[in-house]
Amino acid sequence: MTPLLEVKNLTRVFGGLTAVGDLTFHVDSGEIVGLIGPNGAGKTTCFNLLAGALRPTSGSVFFKGKDVTGRKSHQMCKLGLTRTFQVVQPFPDITALENVMIGAFVRHGSTGAAEAKAREVLDVVGIGHKADVLGRDLTLMELKRLEIGKGLATEPDLLLLDEVAAGLTPVEIDDILALVRRLNSEGMTFLVVEHVMKVIMNLSHRIVVLNFGSQIAEGTPAEISKNPAVLDAYLGEEEYVA
Ligand SMILES: Nc1ncnc2c1ncn2[C@@H]1O[C@H](COP(=O)(O)OP(=O)(O)O)[C@@H](O)[C@H]1O
Ligand SMILES: [Mg+2]
Repeated sequence: MTPLLEVKNLTRVFGGLTAVGDLTFHVDSGEIVGLIGPNGAGKTTCFNLLAGALRPTSGSVFFKGKDVTGRKSHQMCKLGLTRTFQVVQPFPDITALENVMIGAFVRHGSTGAAEAKAREVLDVVGIGHKADVLGRDLTLMELKRLEIGKGLATEPDLLLLDEVAAGLTPVEIDDILALVRRLNSEGMTFLVVEHVMKVIMNLSHRIVVLNFGSQIAEGTPAEISKNPAVLDAYLGEEEYVA
């Protein structure tokens, strides 16, 4: 089976610094793959490369078997690969519904169809009752749900989640994890970047570990939690709770 996403020798250099170096991994349809690594490991750069916000220095990205290296964000989105942002950035002066409608316009030409899609998505992410609330008046938890909703509204085949648990309480984290798991059980494929080990270990089917831009390990959560190179990379990091 052709992987949904295939990353081959992906590299991005900033000046003299290799933020992502020779990275090779894949994501199959139906999986939740975790991408982890200490701060500065290259996770966000990798997402930017995959989602078309940055061009790679070298290497290639295949999506649904097609070479999509260097495509722009809107092209990737149209092809079915969408990302969410670590720092949630809704438009503050428009409603939750309107924020999600922006994503829905990727597939729907008319306002009516985009609104219908956006209402459906708001229900799916659990904030249907907040449809008419302005972006600025949503709580952090609601904003995280909105962020996922903005992504879902583009009707992706692969959704990239960047630190969706950041800033949430343990109870809220459990709620977000339940949402991601439910979406996955209904068929959505995820590539998830997360700094909190407990989250990634609980959520991922498979984990790719980065350090200084390169892959240092790949395996199931159980394998990764015992991998000496991974333990070394995380040594001294407070967040490490396997
Ligand atoms: N636009 C940029 N210009 C220069 N250096 C960058 C840029 N973006 C990221 N970096 C550097 O690349 C490395 C990886 O960063 P990043 O991808 O943000 O890591 P992570 O998300 O894993 O914390 C870091 O050393 C960071 O300082
Ligand atoms: Mg980051």
